[in-house]
Amino acid sequence: MIMWKDTGMGSMLFQLLLVSFVFLSFVDNGSAGVTSKFVRQEWPSDDIPLDNEAFAVPKGQNAPQQVHITQGDYDGNAIIVSWVTPDEPGPSQVRYGTSEKKYDFTAEGTVKNYTFYNYNSGYIHECLVDGLEYDTKYYYEVGVGDSARAFSFQTPPKIHPDAPYKFGIIGDLGQTYNSRSTIEHYMESGGQAVLFVGDLSYSDRYQYHDVGVRWDTWGRFIERSAAYQPWIWTAGNHEIEYMPYMGEVIPFKSYLQRYPTPYAASKSSNPLWYSIRRASAHIIVLSSYSPFVKYTPQWRWLAEEFKRVDREKTPWLIVLMHAPIYNSNEAHFMEGESMRTVFESWFIQHKVDVVYAGHVHAYERSYRVSNIHYNVSGGDRYPVPDKSAPVYITVGDGGNQEGLASRFQDPQPEYSAFREASYGHSTLEIKNRTHAFYHWNRNDDGKRVATDSFMLHNQYWGSSRRRRKLNKNHVHTVLASMPHRLRRPL
Ligand SMILES: *[C@@H]1O[C@H](CO)[C@@H](O)[C@H](O)[C@H]1NC(C)=O
Ligand SMILES: *[C@@H]1O[C@H](CO)[C@@H](O)[C@H](O)[C@H]1NC(C)=O
Ligand SMILES: *[C@@H]1O[C@H](CO)[C@@H](O)[C@H](O)[C@H]1NC(C)=O
Ligand SMILES: [Fe+2]
Repeated sequence: MIMWKDTGMGSMLFQLLLVSFVFLSFVDNGSAGVTSKFVRQEWPSDDIPLDNEAFAVPKGQNAPQQVHITQGDYDGNAIIVSWVTPDEPGPSQVRYGTSEKKYDFTAEGTVKNYTFYNYNSGYIHECLVDGLEYDTKYYYEVGVGDSARAFSFQTPPKIHPDAPYKFGIIGDLGQTYNSRSTIEHYMESGGQAVLFVGDLSYSDRYQYHDVGVRWDTWGRFIERSAAYQPWIWTAGNHEIEYMPYMGEVIPFKSYLQRYPTPYAASKSSNPLWYSIRRASAHIIVLSSYSPFVKYTPQWRWLAEEFKRVDREKTPWLIVLMHAPIYNSNEAHFMEGESMRTVFESWFIQHKVDVVYAGHVHAYERSYRVSNIHYNVSGGDRYPVPDKSAPVYITVGDGGNQEGLASRFQDPQPEYSAFREASYGHSTLEIKNRTHAFYHWNRNDDGKRVATDSFMLHNQYWGSSRRRRKLNKNHVHTVLASMPHRLRRPL
């Protein structure tokens, strides 16, 4: 791994290279995708020590900690607030209102606790705050007396096909100095909600009591963002926590206790797969580590959920999963293949705009390709350009303690548009029903640097022939950035 030193020469070279990457990712240069030669991390991949300021316990007797919110219903006028009180249960009440320190309303939640080996979780509160107005700033408070803590959040605009919205996409975050850099850079991006693609705390890298302790530190670590805007959760393999040597054999035990999702609002029977609608986006969350083959509950649910998608109301159709379907890193190569064989044809049929995944600790973006004609006896075994296919983006580059996946397959496969083994986060800035601006931002030298970016053209409003006739001015940047041999007329 190359450790990047912040020298004058270095940053000049860096600026140059940066410019050329941005250039290459926009312009058709007649070759296949770009493999950025950089493998960068500013910090070693060790978890931040327990006594570090990043995990500071809030002051006050039994003060609420690990406060985080997620969307609480299908359309975005509810949130679920979750927090932990360490010493005694205390109230599960959220006081809230539209002006600071003036809480006109209260919502009552529930409290629970669990053990993991000999760790005791403390009291985990969960409170649904619903009936909120759209596009409104709310202030809220949890805890009592001197230990009460106040936060705020902004509700999304009402579901509307042209509602602008900026999502952040983060995966495989962990709790290292690189993770801290990712979260700090994300917070400067202006993102309004996080689409989190799985592998949260990496506490399963610890043993015995420390598994639980590292869930607590992670909850305090992400509070700086997650108490103020919803993080939309996807489960990854590090949430499985199958640890029979400690007597812990219930998959996703800690995750499900700590990170509630609004699954019932989308008629799902399981918190691990569900969907939400927010502004102009319909977001489908899948579980890579739950059964999904034909006839299983997840498969049946997804078949029904695709029917509920209404692109006239929510033009943007986004799928989140943990194990990527198209990725050319040597790490975890083809681990998403089983899900591809089951769901890829649906993604094509329903014109999914973009699929985000994590798992591989590097960044990669695909062209629009599909491989739905391949079967065990068929001859068509290579992905082909497919204008109905989603763009597949892997953002497992949050910065956890396992380090970077720095070995890509060589040569770069034709489906791969851009790849780099560095840490970072992405943003998807929806402008209206036809255009969304996508950025991947590499963490670098203490700055947030936009590295790979392109205009995402909506698959429903952009590629339907009838609509395109009505919207002649739209530029097909995604197509324009494809190599000639991958091009087909739209
Ligand atoms: C949960 O809290 C109750 C009440 O304080 C306590 O009696 C019980 O032992 C706790 N259970 C676990 C699993 O920690
Ligand atoms: C498998 O592929 C072959 C060759 O492309 C095709 O004829 C056949 O219909 C496919 N079978 C299925 C079940 O998709
Ligand atoms: C949608 O947004 C894009 C990018 O900002 C802009 O160029 C386009 O004109 C917008 N379309 C409409 C109909 O406003
Ligand atoms: Fe993973």
